[in-house]
Amino acid sequence: MHEELEIWANHFDYHAGQARCPAAGIEDVLRPEERRRIARSIATFQLGERSSGATLRRAAERFARAQALPMLPRIVERLVQEEHRHARLLAAFMADHRIPLRASDWTDRVFRCARRLAGLELYFYILVSAELVGIGYYRALAEATRCRRLEQLCRLFIADELAHVGFESALLLALRARRPAWQRALLLGMHRVFVAGTALLVWLTHRPVLRPEHGSARRFVGACLAGFDFYLGPVPLAIEAARTRYRAPPAPSPLAPPPPLAPPPPLAPPLAPPLAPPGVHSEAAFKKARLSRNTVVLPGG
Ligand SMILES: [Fe+2]
Ligand SMILES: [Fe+2]
Repeated sequence: MHEELEIWANHFDYHAGQARCPAAGIEDVLRPEERRRIARSIATFQLGERSSGATLRRAAERFARAQALPMLPRIVERLVQEEHRHARLLAAFMADHRIPLRASDWTDRVFRCARRLAGLELYFYILVSAELVGIGYYRALAEATRCRRLEQLCRLFIADELAHVGFESALLLALRARRPAWQRALLLGMHRVFVAGTALLVWLTHRPVLRPEHGSARRFVGACLAGFDFYLGPVPLAIEAARTRYRAPPAPSPLAPPPPLAPPPPLAPPLAPPLAPPGVHSEAAFKKARLSRNTVVLPGG
């Protein structure tokens, strides 16, 4: 686990030095109808992004001392900083479009209370569930909005949240691997139900944003569970998904006629700002991380 944590620490250190933000001069028109539809919803997500992270930091320090993982608090600190950057970017967007900030929301209070009662492992179960559902939410918002600045913000958040989910999943899988088989199966089932419940709650409370893209709660919950299965589901299922995604094209039959010559390659597109962080989001690294996830061994594990 030390080696893997070092990779994550490097990832978060690298991105802390690269202040990604929407491209300068990007189109930033939010029509009144859309503003009315999304205002309360993005204000609630902005509230979640600006959580202080004090409980998480304390839990990480305790866990790091107990498990001799000195790099963990630094990674958690960077992760909290990224969430705060999301909060600032969303707040700036909201201020430019006269959308008021929210001081509190009952769903946010419930999640904060639950996390306060938890140690790091349970905290991460709750956090990764919220992040998986958050990715589904930002994807839906990016597809639905006509405001290019908001779309780019969503895609930037998705790139960061995918890395958060990758890191949290790696830690949870390593912890889960230490448990007997019946506990692993029970944890997996309960966690899946919790993710589905969280997704349903978010769909019910953010319907005006999610309905245009997903249509029904079933589709939104299904999309969130697909993310869960990929990162945290049973290994055979995840490996099959990876095989399907990265399957090589079939070899041509020796009797088949030779394929036509390929047309010349198109001109390279202009360079765009790096929305998706390199490293864990490259397909090769993603595949490697996914397929090697069960090789993670915690000290004493
Ligand atoms: Fe975030
Ligand atoms: Fe996150």
